[in-house]
Amino acid sequence: MKGFSILLFLHLFFSSVTCFVNRDQFPPDFLFGTSTSSFQIEGAYLEGNKGLSNWDVFSHIPGKIKDGSNADVADDHYHLYMEDVQLMHSLGVNSYRFSISWSRILPRGRFGEINSVGIEFYNNLIDALLLKGIQPFVTLSHYDIPQELEDRYGAWLSSQIQEDFGYYAEVCFKAFGDRVKYWTTFNEPNPMISSGYRKGTFPPGHCSKPFGDCPTGNSEIEPYIAAHNVILSHATAADIYRKRYQVKQDGSIGIVMSTYWYEPLRNIPADRSAAQRYLAFDIAWFLDPIIYGNYPPEMREILGSRLPTFSSEDRRKLQNKLDFIGINHYSTLYVKDCMFFPCQANASEGDMFALRTGERDGIPIGTPTAMTTFYVVPQGMEKMVMYMMERYNNTPLFITENGYPQESNPDVSVKDLLNDTQRVEYLRSYLASLTVAMRQGADVRGYFVWSIIDNFEWLNGYSLRFGLYYVDYDTLKRSPKLSAQWYKQFLQGSKILKEKSDGQKLGHLVS
Ligand code: NOJ
Repeated sequence: MKGFSILLFLHLFFSSVTCFVNRDQFPPDFLFGTSTSSFQIEGAYLEGNKGLSNWDVFSHIPGKIKDGSNADVADDHYHLYMEDVQLMHSLGVNSYRFSISWSRILPRGRFGEINSVGIEFYNNLIDALLLKGIQPFVTLSHYDIPQELEDRYGAWLSSQIQEDFGYYAEVCFKAFGDRVKYWTTFNEPNPMISSGYRKGTFPPGHCSKPFGDCPTGNSEIEPYIAAHNVILSHATAADIYRKRYQVKQDGSIGIVMSTYWYEPLRNIPADRSAAQRYLAFDIAWFLDPIIYGNYPPEMREILGSRLPTFSSEDRRKLQNKLDFIGINHYSTLYVKDCMFFPCQANASEGDMFALRTGERDGIPIGTPTAMTTFYVVPQGMEKMVMYMMERYNNTPLFITENGYPQESNPDVSVKDLLNDTQRVEYLRSYLASLTVAMRQGADVRGYFVWSIIDNFEWLNGYSLRFGLYYVDYDTLKRSPKLSAQWYKQFLQGSKILKEKSDGQKLGHLVS
């Protein structure tokens, strides 16, 4: 009995220690911020001489976006950016991750002029941020590219895009690099390529049967060619930055990956190696070549000559590697082996010989959210960070996205959306899990909540909301949710209990 009480005490003690989180557990110079991307918030899709992007064109095709919407206006951040900078300032963040719209800077890629109106927009945004003490953390391409590159040579399927991306990156380093100290080349190339060229659900909508039903594409070959060109585009931009800008601008350059953590469905060797294989096909696909100069052995073994090879010039450029890795982490899924055990694998996962699922015997891996593959599994954050630390020699890491989706439809009241206690609980528990990884030595340098404001969630249009601020899409008014108050209080490092006007205590959610 006495032993049991001690165990219970220890359990309660350690679970309260691991759930406790406050600002002071992170280094003083740690970046805390919020994240967005140009296409999802800017709107003004044909203003200021901007060219069409692949997502402008794709989202206008009837049936592509769930709620039939598009991002022509989105949050109208293009006009309201000063208000949004003020929101961030009032939260007390010291950093803001956003992306530059390639087609606003180079409406026709390298085949046309540099758009001075676009340059001016980002100059104004960067200056406004710095005036408020907020560090810009800039992504060069967050899924969107000028449509011209698709029309001319098939975008990522052609090696020509490496030259285009290098040219674009250099225009940005030249124009903004005196003030931007954090650059990332790509956001989530892994789903961008799998969805665009294997499943065909993102632009350019390429796939073949049985992976999907598209008018054109080859799901077994194209994803690997397109990814190869993304990797070499990253290397081209990093080469230019290292050679011509890094010393005088004193900044750093990285890439951002989408990172689900994968747990074996059953506690058997086949599922354990399937989970590892999935991580390799999903994440190491891009990071191994950039960091070690080669595709992961797990992929080469299965794909053989379907994986392209790197020339000696490619290898020279790849030696530039990166200064940091950005990870977008939201959720954990189970993985089931399909190499030794027959299973009806979703065709799009065929190359991995594995199947992802959110449930084991009908029980979800964590609390489900409004996004089908997002479950609340805070420990996944610690495990993901430890995986990156071990596989990539503790390369500095930034958590470039972490956030919680809310369903938005006419049946959900604004009051409920504003009172987002689940998001507060989610952010708090994931941050606590992050501190566990940091205590084990992981070199994590920053954390960004996705997102500052509700915005256009790709194929889901406006039916999902990730913002700390609610956006009324009729008036474009931004209103703070409970999570905005929580983040603000967290950033102040204060544990003062604060009463919400409706009497609800926010304080218990702070620690
Ligand atoms: C990943 C993407 O980078 C971002 O654009 C998206 O909105 C969020 N995750 C949520 O799905």
